Amino acid sequence: MTIIDVQELTKVYRGGLKKRGIVALDNISLSIQQGEIIGLLGPNGAGKTTFLKVVLGIAHPSTGQVIVNGYKPKDPRSRKHLGYLPENHRFPEHLTGLGLLEFTGRMHGLKQVEIDARTDRLLEMVDMAKWSNTKIRKYSKGMQQRIGLAQAMMPDPDVLLLDEPTDGVDPVGKVEIRKVLERIRSEGKTIVLNSHLLSEVESVADRVAILSKGRLVRLCTVDELITRNCQYEIDADIGNRLVDIPVEVGKILNVSTSKLIVELTAEDKINYVIDVLRMKKISIRAIQPLKLTLEQSFMEAIVPSGTVGTHKGAEV
Ligand SMILES: Nc1ncnc2c1ncn2[C@@H]1O[C@H](COP(=O)(O)OP(=O)(O)OP(=O)(O)O)[C@@H](O)[C@H]1O
Ligand SMILES: [Mg+2]
Repeated sequence: MTIIDVQELTKVYRGGLKKRGIVALDNISLSIQQGEIIGLLGPNGAGKTTFLKVVLGIAHPSTGQVIVNGYKPKDPRSRKHLGYLPENHRFPEHLTGLGLLEFTGRMHGLKQVEIDARTDRLLEMVDMAKWSNTKIRKYSKGMQQRIGLAQAMMPDPDVLLLDEPTDGVDPVGKVEIRKVLERIRSEGKTIVLNSHLLSEVESVADRVAILSKGRLVRLCTVDELITRNCQYEIDADIGNRLVDIPVEVGKILNVSTSKLIVELTAEDKINYVIDVLRMKKISIRAIQPLKLTLEQSFMEAIVPSGTVGTHKGAEV
């Protein structure tokens, strides 16, 4: 079931060069399914936060359609089952972690018994139970993000919108936050997870949507992102034997005495290459699709993106 449906969404902020407007989102279409974890990736200024703000009804679409939980974002019913962790949040520092969760619970209109039950469970879940009576001003960045995740979970949301949950957190804190995300994931929540690092979302996300200059440049699974179409690495005892394949099958990208890298015109052409090697009595040890590193694939997705157009009719 589609829980967030975005069709041809464009968001233009007022301002920019000669007041032509700033195109933060450019014709985005994206359907997010219930229970799915989608990583929204992109460099600074790509439009990730704007996307969440439009879903939340904080920013309004310039053009296009957005439906959340069956309602338009300007309808408060769309937010009834949403949890949100903003980027660069500043929770009131005089509150304790527990105080923040109680305050959030009251804002969501929960009864005290529900608040008590949820705070205990959530503090455990984010590993903050022993710090619950310490003031937020004394929290490290990692603790602030973990308590932020707990406040996002207070309304027991179906959908969580998390804007850079590991931003500014050290590597140890990042691992802890990843564990919390995995716990949240196991509860079957739909999560939109903003990040500018693919390595951060790869372990939890089902799909990644890569934004660049407001445009959706890639939408696929992490595995699809790092797999090069039709490129294979073959470990084989080639020695100094000559291997050749016809152009209609593909081309050899690299060959050594023990390895062959080929790019094929179609997936099933790998069988032809195997036949060629076997006919030459070359022993094959392994064949695997060629994978890019996460960083390479992310860069490949964002670098060739086109220029951002300018739109009239700017609004905030
Ligand atoms: N309220 C605003 N008014 C005008 N321009 C804005 C506003 N908010 C964002 N922008 C611009 O819209 C573009 C997208 O910004 P956005 O904050 O959505 O990107 P982001 O991907 O979240 O970036 P970051 O990784 O830095 O958080 C940027 O060019 C930004 O300067
Ligand atoms: Mg942002």
